[in-house]
Amino acid sequence: MRRFLTPEDLGDLRKALDEARYVKANPFADQDLGRNKTLLLIFFNSSLRTRLSSQRAATNMGMNVIVLDINKDGWKLESEYGVVMDGDKPEHIREAVPVMGQYADIIGVRSFADFVDRDKDYKEHILNQFIELSGRPVISLESATRHPLQAFADLITVEEYKTKPRPKVVMTWAPHPRALPQAVPNSFVEWMKKADVELVMTCPKGYELAPEFMEGLTYEPDQDKALAGADFVYAKNWSSYHEYGQILSKDRSWTVDENKMALTNNAKFMHCLPVRRNMIVSDEVIEGPNSIVIPEAANRVVSMQVVLKRMLQSMK
Ligand code: CP
Repeated sequence: MRRFLTPEDLGDLRKALDEARYVKANPFADQDLGRNKTLLLIFFNSSLRTRLSSQRAATNMGMNVIVLDINKDGWKLESEYGVVMDGDKPEHIREAVPVMGQYADIIGVRSFADFVDRDKDYKEHILNQFIELSGRPVISLESATRHPLQAFADLITVEEYKTKPRPKVVMTWAPHPRALPQAVPNSFVEWMKKADVELVMTCPKGYELAPEFMEGLTYEPDQDKALAGADFVYAKNWSSYHEYGQILSKDRSWTVDENKMALTNNAKFMHCLPVRRNMIVSDEVIEGPNSIVIPEAANRVVSMQVVLKRMLQSMK
Protein backbone atom coordinates (compact mmCIF):
# COMPACT_ATOMS: atom_id res chain seq x y z
CA MET A 1 0.00 0.00 0.00
CA ARG A 2 1.75 3.16 -1.24
CA ARG A 3 -0.87 5.81 -0.59
CA PHE A 4 -3.99 6.41 1.45
CA LEU A 5 -6.48 8.87 0.04
CA THR A 6 -9.61 6.95 -0.96
CA PRO A 7 -11.45 3.79 0.21
CA GLU A 8 -10.07 1.98 -2.85
CA ASP A 9 -6.58 2.37 -1.38
CA LEU A 10 -7.71 0.17 1.52
CA GLY A 11 -9.40 -2.46 -0.65
CA ASP A 12 -12.19 -4.63 0.78
CA LEU A 13 -13.91 -2.49 3.43
CA ARG A 14 -15.32 -5.53 5.28
CA LYS A 15 -11.78 -6.83 5.77
CA ALA A 16 -10.61 -3.37 6.83
CA LEU A 17 -13.39 -3.18 9.43
CA ASP A 18 -12.45 -6.64 10.75
CA GLU A 19 -8.88 -5.44 11.01
CA ALA A 20 -10.04 -2.30 12.84
CA ARG A 21 -11.83 -4.47 15.40
CA TYR A 22 -8.69 -6.55 15.87
CA VAL A 23 -6.41 -3.51 16.18
CA LYS A 24 -8.74 -1.89 18.70
CA ALA A 25 -8.78 -5.02 20.86
CA ASN A 26 -5.02 -5.65 20.45
CA PRO A 27 -3.37 -2.22 20.06
CA PHE A 28 0.18 -3.39 20.80
CA ALA A 29 0.10 -6.70 18.92
CA ASP A 30 2.04 -5.48 15.87
CA GLN A 31 4.97 -3.66 17.43
CA ASP A 32 7.46 -5.84 15.55
CA LEU A 33 6.16 -4.35 12.29
CA GLY A 34 6.95 -0.79 13.35
CA ARG A 35 10.24 -1.29 15.16
CA ASN A 36 13.02 0.92 13.69
CA LYS A 37 10.55 2.54 11.30
CA THR A 38 9.85 6.28 11.33
CA LEU A 39 6.61 8.12 10.58
CA LEU A 40 7.00 11.76 9.52
CA LEU A 41 3.90 13.94 9.98
CA ILE A 42 3.93 17.19 7.98
CA PHE A 43 1.33 19.82 8.87
CA PHE A 44 0.65 22.78 6.59
CA ASN A 45 -2.49 23.42 8.73
CA SER A 46 -3.56 23.17 12.37
CA SER A 47 -4.66 19.94 14.01
CA LEU A 48 -5.48 18.41 17.37
CA ARG A 49 -7.01 15.00 16.66
CA THR A 50 -5.10 14.06 13.54
CA ARG A 51 -1.76 14.92 15.09
CA LEU A 52 -2.33 13.19 18.42
CA SER A 53 -4.14 10.13 17.08
CA SER A 54 -1.47 9.60 14.41
CA GLN A 55 1.28 9.84 17.01
CA ARG A 56 -0.58 7.45 19.28
CA ALA A 57 -1.24 4.96 16.47
CA ALA A 58 2.41 5.01 15.42
CA THR A 59 3.71 4.50 18.94
CA ASN A 60 1.20 1.65 19.41
CA MET A 61 2.88 0.10 16.35
CA GLY A 62 6.36 0.56 17.86
CA MET A 63 7.30 3.34 15.39
CA ASN A 64 9.31 6.50 15.92
CA VAL A 65 7.46 9.73 15.04
CA ILE A 66 8.68 13.11 13.79
CA VAL A 67 6.18 15.98 13.57
CA LEU A 68 6.85 19.14 11.57
CA ASP A 69 4.61 22.23 11.49
CA ILE A 70 6.02 23.32 8.20
CA ASN A 71 4.69 26.88 8.18
CA LYS A 72 6.00 27.50 11.70
CA ASP A 73 9.20 25.50 11.91
CA GLY A 74 10.30 24.87 8.30
CA TRP A 75 11.27 27.09 5.39
CA LYS A 76 8.30 28.54 3.57
CA LEU A 77 7.84 26.34 0.48
CA GLU A 78 7.31 27.39 -3.11
CA SER A 79 5.07 24.83 -4.83
CA GLU A 80 4.73 26.29 -8.35
CA TYR A 81 6.95 25.16 -11.21
CA GLY A 82 8.96 27.73 -13.13
CA VAL A 83 8.67 30.51 -10.54
CA VAL A 84 11.57 32.95 -10.15
CA MET A 85 12.11 32.51 -6.42
CA ASP A 86 12.85 36.12 -5.53
CA GLY A 87 10.01 36.39 -3.00
CA ASP A 88 9.49 35.21 0.58
CA LYS A 89 9.76 31.44 -0.12
CA PRO A 90 13.37 30.24 0.17
CA GLU A 91 12.82 26.51 -0.58
CA HIS A 92 11.03 24.66 -3.37
CA ILE A 93 8.74 21.75 -2.56
CA ARG A 94 10.53 19.70 -5.26
CA GLU A 95 13.69 19.62 -3.14
CA ALA A 96 12.02 19.67 0.29
CA VAL A 97 9.85 16.60 -0.31
CA PRO A 98 12.59 14.21 -1.51
CA VAL A 99 14.73 15.40 1.40
CA MET A 100 11.91 14.58 3.83
CA GLY A 101 11.72 11.15 2.23
CA GLN A 102 15.33 10.54 3.32
CA TYR A 103 14.35 10.85 6.97
CA ALA A 104 11.21 8.71 7.13
CA ASP A 105 9.71 5.38 6.10
CA ILE A 106 6.12 6.67 5.83
CA ILE A 107 4.97 10.29 5.41
CA GLY A 108 1.64 11.80 6.49
CA VAL A 109 0.67 15.18 5.02
CA ARG A 110 -2.02 17.68 6.00
CA SER A 111 -2.60 20.34 3.36
CA PHE A 112 -6.01 21.99 3.08
CA ALA A 113 -7.65 23.62 0.09
CA ASP A 114 -6.63 27.26 -0.15
CA PHE A 115 -9.75 28.28 -2.17
CA VAL A 116 -7.69 30.30 -4.67
CA ASP A 117 -8.00 27.90 -7.60
CA ARG A 118 -10.61 25.12 -7.52
CA ASP A 119 -8.93 23.07 -10.25
CA LYS A 120 -5.61 23.18 -8.44
CA ASP A 121 -7.24 22.16 -5.15
CA TYR A 122 -9.20 19.31 -6.79
CA LYS A 123 -6.03 18.09 -8.56
CA GLU A 124 -4.40 17.77 -5.10
CA HIS A 125 -1.50 19.98 -6.11
CA ILE A 126 0.41 19.59 -2.79
CA LEU A 127 -0.41 16.00 -1.80
CA ASN A 128 0.43 14.68 -5.26
CA GLN A 129 3.89 16.22 -5.09
CA PHE A 130 4.51 14.20 -1.92
CA ILE A 131 3.24 11.05 -3.68
CA GLU A 132 5.40 11.79 -6.74
CA LEU A 133 8.60 12.97 -5.10
CA SER A 134 9.00 11.54 -1.59
CA GLY A 135 9.79 7.96 -2.57
CA ARG A 136 7.75 6.88 0.48
CA PRO A 137 4.20 5.69 1.12
CA VAL A 138 2.04 8.77 1.73
CA ILE A 139 -1.00 9.12 3.99
CA SER A 140 -3.43 11.99 3.64
CA LEU A 141 -3.94 13.65 7.00
CA GLU A 142 -6.63 15.75 5.24
CA SER A 143 -5.87 17.11 1.84
CA ALA A 144 -7.60 19.67 -0.35
CA THR A 145 -10.45 17.33 -1.27
CA ARG A 146 -10.53 14.43 1.19
CA HIS A 147 -10.11 13.40 4.83
CA PRO A 148 -9.94 9.60 4.58
CA LEU A 149 -8.68 8.85 8.11
CA GLN A 150 -11.73 10.69 9.46
CA ALA A 151 -14.14 8.92 7.12
CA PHE A 152 -12.70 5.51 7.97
CA ALA A 153 -13.00 6.31 11.70
CA ASP A 154 -16.59 7.46 11.07
CA LEU A 155 -17.38 4.16 9.36
CA ILE A 156 -15.83 2.19 12.24
CA THR A 157 -17.99 4.23 14.65
CA VAL A 158 -21.22 3.61 12.70
CA GLU A 159 -20.41 -0.10 12.66
CA GLU A 160 -19.93 -0.07 16.45
CA TYR A 161 -23.12 1.85 17.26
CA LYS A 162 -25.60 0.61 14.67
CA THR A 163 -28.58 -1.36 15.99
CA LYS A 164 -29.87 -2.62 12.64
CA PRO A 165 -28.12 -4.13 9.61
CA ARG A 166 -28.73 -1.12 7.34
CA PRO A 167 -29.04 2.09 9.36
CA LYS A 168 -30.16 5.42 7.90
CA VAL A 169 -27.21 7.84 7.98
CA VAL A 170 -27.94 11.51 7.31
CA MET A 171 -25.17 13.99 6.62
CA THR A 172 -26.46 17.49 7.17
CA TRP A 173 -24.85 20.82 6.36
CA ALA A 174 -24.95 23.24 9.31
CA PRO A 175 -23.93 26.91 9.59
CA HIS A 176 -20.45 28.20 10.45
CA PRO A 177 -18.90 31.69 10.47
CA ARG A 178 -15.85 30.77 8.34
CA ALA A 179 -15.37 29.19 4.91
CA LEU A 180 -14.48 25.53 5.47
CA PRO A 181 -13.19 23.00 2.91
CA GLN A 182 -15.27 20.20 1.39
CA ALA A 183 -12.76 17.48 2.36
CA VAL A 184 -14.71 15.97 5.28
CA PRO A 185 -18.13 15.80 3.54
CA ASN A 186 -16.50 14.55 0.31
CA SER A 187 -14.80 11.68 2.11
CA PHE A 188 -17.79 10.94 4.33
CA VAL A 189 -20.10 10.37 1.35
CA GLU A 190 -17.38 8.59 -0.60
CA TRP A 191 -16.92 6.03 2.19
CA MET A 192 -20.58 5.73 3.25
CA LYS A 193 -21.67 5.05 -0.35
CA LYS A 194 -19.54 1.90 -0.12
CA ALA A 195 -20.97 0.87 3.26
CA ASP A 196 -24.18 -1.00 4.01
CA VAL A 197 -26.14 2.12 5.02
CA GLU A 198 -29.01 4.20 3.65
CA LEU A 199 -27.17 7.47 3.05
CA VAL A 200 -28.97 10.81 2.67
CA MET A 201 -27.29 14.20 2.30
CA THR A 202 -29.07 17.45 3.07
CA CYS A 203 -27.83 21.01 2.50
CA PRO A 204 -29.20 24.34 1.30
CA LYS A 205 -29.26 24.88 -2.46
CA GLY A 206 -25.83 25.96 -3.65
CA TYR A 207 -23.96 23.68 -1.23
CA GLU A 208 -24.10 20.56 -3.41
CA LEU A 209 -20.72 18.79 -3.46
CA ALA A 210 -18.56 18.27 -6.55
CA PRO A 211 -20.25 16.09 -9.22
CA GLU A 212 -18.06 13.03 -8.51
CA PHE A 213 -19.20 13.04 -4.87
CA MET A 214 -22.88 13.78 -5.68
CA GLU A 215 -23.02 10.85 -8.11
CA GLY A 216 -25.23 8.08 -6.70
CA LEU A 217 -25.98 10.13 -3.57
CA THR A 218 -29.52 10.67 -2.28
CA TYR A 219 -29.89 14.43 -1.87
CA GLU A 220 -32.81 15.95 0.05
CA PRO A 221 -32.84 19.76 0.23
CA ASP A 222 -35.41 19.78 3.06
CA GLN A 223 -33.44 19.09 6.26
CA ASP A 224 -36.49 18.03 8.28
CA LYS A 225 -37.51 15.47 5.64
CA ALA A 226 -33.95 14.14 5.47
CA LEU A 227 -33.70 13.74 9.25
CA ALA A 228 -36.97 11.78 9.53
CA GLY A 229 -36.18 8.29 10.81
CA ALA A 230 -32.39 8.81 10.82
CA ASP A 231 -30.31 6.42 12.93
CA PHE A 232 -27.19 8.60 12.68
CA VAL A 233 -26.94 12.36 12.16
CA TYR A 234 -23.57 13.52 10.86
CA ALA A 235 -23.36 17.31 10.99
CA LYS A 236 -20.74 19.30 9.13
CA ASN A 237 -20.25 22.70 7.58
CA TRP A 238 -18.62 23.20 4.22
CA SER A 239 -18.32 26.10 1.82
CA SER A 240 -19.79 26.11 -1.68
CA TYR A 241 -18.14 24.01 -4.39
CA HIS A 242 -19.97 25.72 -7.26
CA GLU A 243 -19.28 29.25 -6.00
CA TYR A 244 -15.96 27.95 -4.87
CA GLY A 245 -15.07 28.63 -1.24
CA GLN A 246 -17.98 31.05 -0.71
CA ILE A 247 -20.28 31.18 2.33
CA LEU A 248 -23.80 31.33 0.86
CA SER A 249 -25.73 30.94 4.13
CA LYS A 250 -25.34 31.19 7.89
CA ASP A 251 -28.96 30.16 8.46
CA ARG A 252 -29.15 28.91 12.03
CA SER A 253 -32.42 27.10 11.35
CA TRP A 254 -30.02 24.37 10.06
CA THR A 255 -28.31 24.05 13.49
CA VAL A 256 -28.80 20.54 14.87
CA ASP A 257 -30.74 21.02 18.09
CA GLU A 258 -33.13 18.90 20.16
CA ASN A 259 -36.08 19.72 17.87
CA LYS A 260 -34.12 18.43 14.87
CA MET A 261 -33.00 15.31 16.73
CA ALA A 262 -36.64 14.66 17.74
CA LEU A 263 -37.39 14.02 14.04
CA THR A 264 -34.98 11.08 14.00
CA ASN A 265 -35.13 7.47 15.13
CA ASN A 266 -33.37 8.35 18.41
CA ALA A 267 -30.29 8.99 16.25
CA LYS A 268 -26.72 9.07 17.39
CA PHE A 269 -25.07 12.45 16.80
CA MET A 270 -21.68 12.56 15.05
CA HIS A 271 -19.23 15.31 14.13
CA CYS A 272 -15.55 15.10 13.23
CA LEU A 273 -14.63 17.98 15.60
CA PRO A 274 -13.63 20.71 16.19
CA VAL A 275 -17.21 21.96 16.30
CA ARG A 276 -18.73 25.42 16.81
CA ARG A 277 -21.41 24.98 19.45
CA ASN A 278 -24.77 26.61 18.82
CA MET A 279 -23.80 27.15 15.20
CA ILE A 280 -23.44 23.53 14.05
CA VAL A 281 -24.97 21.81 17.08
CA SER A 282 -26.63 22.89 20.30
CA ASP A 283 -24.97 22.37 23.70
CA GLU A 284 -27.78 19.99 24.65
CA VAL A 285 -27.30 17.71 21.65
CA ILE A 286 -23.51 17.51 21.74
CA GLU A 287 -23.56 16.82 25.47
CA GLY A 288 -26.64 14.61 25.31
CA PRO A 289 -26.77 10.85 25.73
CA ASN A 290 -26.85 10.22 21.97
CA SER A 291 -23.72 12.18 21.17
CA ILE A 292 -20.89 9.84 20.14
CA VAL A 293 -18.34 12.49 19.15
CA ILE A 294 -15.77 11.35 21.74
CA PRO A 295 -15.72 7.63 20.79
CA GLU A 296 -15.73 8.82 17.15
CA ALA A 297 -12.56 10.82 17.85
CA ALA A 298 -11.08 7.85 19.72
CA ASN A 299 -11.50 5.76 16.58
CA ARG A 300 -9.08 8.06 14.77
CA VAL A 301 -6.30 6.06 16.45
CA VAL A 302 -7.81 2.85 15.09
CA SER A 303 -8.20 4.10 11.51
CA MET A 304 -4.61 5.35 11.45
CA GLN A 305 -3.30 2.16 12.99
CA VAL A 306 -4.97 -0.02 10.32
CA VAL A 307 -3.45 2.18 7.58
CA LEU A 308 0.02 2.09 9.15
CA LYS A 309 -0.22 -1.67 9.59
CA ARG A 310 -1.10 -2.15 5.92
CA MET A 311 1.78 0.07 4.81
CA LEU A 312 4.29 -1.58 7.12
CA GLN A 313 3.17 -5.05 5.99
CA SER A 314 3.67 -4.06 2.37
CA MET A 315 7.28 -3.02 3.13
CA LYS A 316 8.26 -6.42 4.53
N1 CP B 1 -11.23 15.88 12.87
C1 CP B 1 -9.96 16.32 12.70
O1 CP B 1 -9.27 16.00 11.71
O2 CP B 1 -9.50 17.05 13.74
P1 CP B 1 -8.18 17.96 13.71
O3 CP B 1 -8.39 19.00 12.65
O4 CP B 1 -8.07 18.54 15.09
O5 CP B 1 -7.02 17.08 13.37
